[in-house]
Amino acid sequence: MSARIIDGKAIAAGLRAEVAAGVARLKESHGITPGLAVVLVGEDPASAVYVRNKGRQTVEAGMASFEHRLDASTSQAALLDLVRRLNDDPAVNGILVQLPLPGHIDPAAVIDTIDPAKDVDGFHVVNAGRLATGLPALVPCTPVGCVILAKQVHPDLTGLEAVVVGRSNIVGKPVAQLLLAENCTVTIAHSRTRAVADVCRRADLLVAAVGRPEMIRGGWVKPGATVIDVGINRVAAGDGTARLVGDVAFDEARQVAGAITPVPGGVGPMTIACLLRNTLEATRRQHG
Ligand code: GUN
Repeated sequence: MSARIIDGKAIAAGLRAEVAAGVARLKESHGITPGLAVVLVGEDPASAVYVRNKGRQTVEAGMASFEHRLDASTSQAALLDLVRRLNDDPAVNGILVQLPLPGHIDPAAVIDTIDPAKDVDGFHVVNAGRLATGLPALVPCTPVGCVILAKQVHPDLTGLEAVVVGRSNIVGKPVAQLLLAENCTVTIAHSRTRAVADVCRRADLLVAAVGRPEMIRGGWVKPGATVIDVGINRVAAGDGTARLVGDVAFDEARQVAGAITPVPGGVGPMTIACLLRNTLEATRRQHG
């Protein structure tokens, strides 16, 4: 048996079209154009690609895109000043500071300075706390993308055994909160988990967000399970080029799983689509 491949690229395109329609309605009914500001500090090549894609897709959705590219030597004080100016700018409804930041800048200080109402990444403690306590929140984009993809297979996630591998603030913890809110029985596995393969084999829904290329082997997957692979790892191919692989050994896991997301073309495209959705939602609330 070979697993159903969950087409994140197509699902993300559908979501972007929905957002674009929402943006057009908001313009027509209220004369408001949502604006997203993206701040990139330094020259990290992967980040530069993400930022370029974000800018393009923001404009395609009918929103205003404001890009701020700062030198890698920018001081923390100067970055915080920029964030405060964006907080005060009525044309800016969403603010995203691309991570990782250069080592001399404390990401927590930056995230803490973003107005929670404009925190379209959902990283501010106010939004993390609201998510954890079941209040309306701006929710991190990649975790929302994971849940949307899981629901393609299981429209109702109630009662499923979900195992999340990884406990980052950006993916692992918020995806666990979202799955709990969807009535899953949630286990978070991490680098100190004992018998992690056995824990994974319990999962009806396995979410891999560890950032280790192909760590999760086919034998870790319960037959018929749904596998959501958040990893995007660049590894050297034999011929000197690089290829992208997930945190799951795809060719093994697809023989066992019921459904699985590919890398690339799975969770990746969902992140920007959910970012655009958050920007529209933040704009509506700011004008609510
Ligand atoms: N770097 C990699 N993914 C993300 C993301 O979702 N948001 C931000 N701000 N930085 C990132």
